[in-house]
Amino acid sequence: MTPERWLLTGGAGYIGAHIADEFICNDKSVVIIDSLYQGLESRITFLRAKHGLEIPFIKCDIRDYNEIESLIREYKIDGIIHTAALKAVGESMEKPDEYFQVNLEATNELIEIAKRNGVKKFIFSSTAAVYGSPDTMDPCKEDGPKAPISPYGDSKYQAESKVTAFINTPGNHGTSLRFFNVVGTAAPELLDNSVENLVPIVLGKLNKGQAPEIFGTDYPTADGTCVRDYVDVRDIARAHLAAADATTPLPPAMNIGTGRGASVREIIDLVLQATNKTQTEVIKSPRRAGDPAFLCADVALAKSAMGFTSKYSLEESIRSLF
Ligand code: UD1
Repeated sequence: MTPERWLLTGGAGYIGAHIADEFICNDKSVVIIDSLYQGLESRITFLRAKHGLEIPFIKCDIRDYNEIESLIREYKIDGIIHTAALKAVGESMEKPDEYFQVNLEATNELIEIAKRNGVKKFIFSSTAAVYGSPDTMDPCKEDGPKAPISPYGDSKYQAESKVTAFINTPGNHGTSLRFFNVVGTAAPELLDNSVENLVPIVLGKLNKGQAPEIFGTDYPTADGTCVRDYVDVRDIARAHLAAADATTPLPPAMNIGTGRGASVREIIDLVLQATNKTQTEVIKSPRRAGDPAFLCADVALAKSAMGFTSKYSLEESIRSLF
């Protein structure tokens, strides 16, 4: 039997490359497109060497619809994993139009291309940002309130509804996966190169001999710092495989997290321990605008719908970075 062939948009990105790795390990064939705006071609080079495969990679913007349509025809694509996106929350406030164009319009176009070309499977990368800044300390449920507070979260939330319409068409399959805070790596070559999230920021500061900074120590949490659900990128990849292989219809959207919260203080302590820098000074700064005290996933739906539970502990995720 010929293996299923998946088009992986954003496959040179931190998350996309991990999905490619997981899919190849499980006998699926992947074709990668990436604009290399944030993605790194070196990740593809690493995956090719690791698997001894000439993984097709085409440098292509997600808005280059003609090119994408020809690729889907040329490679006879069975399914699409759509991770390509703009993902910086702060930047989305300054460039909302670009965020809606890349995250919403391009997702819509990609779905239209899929429909025209008989592609029946579509798995979309969404985000916990669709929940906005809840003021409760309850884990977020998929059918609970959605109130994105940034064009980033809003563009992803609106794109989810396009995916839902696609998967509600008989014969089609897929879902939107709402990632919580993604950490860890399968290999040094696949590390997160972003400069926006807590762990990469703390590591960057330590490397430069600077003090890590906590944004807010007066939250109503056990240690006063914000609590998040940190999920390993390898678990994110496993969740995509579970969604791709599910034989029963999936819910329109599912949280992908661990169901366990960790505070900023705990994360910084784990990083300091892993780097033998426990004596490092940590700066207590004021709260950052828009940060909820608590944002964790209710993970029951992904478990019941596709048997997915996270596997990696936070300690393993942090250790994987060194
Ligand atoms: C952010 C985005 C979210 C996105 C997610 C994954 C915001 C408001 N939210 O989530 O939409 O889905 O990234 O890309 O930007 N922190 C510090 N010191 C630092 C850096 C961060 O204390 O130097 C704190 C933050 O205040 C926050 C926690 O660490 O409480 C996690 O921050 P971050 O990694 O930026 O993720 P989120 O803000 O949770």
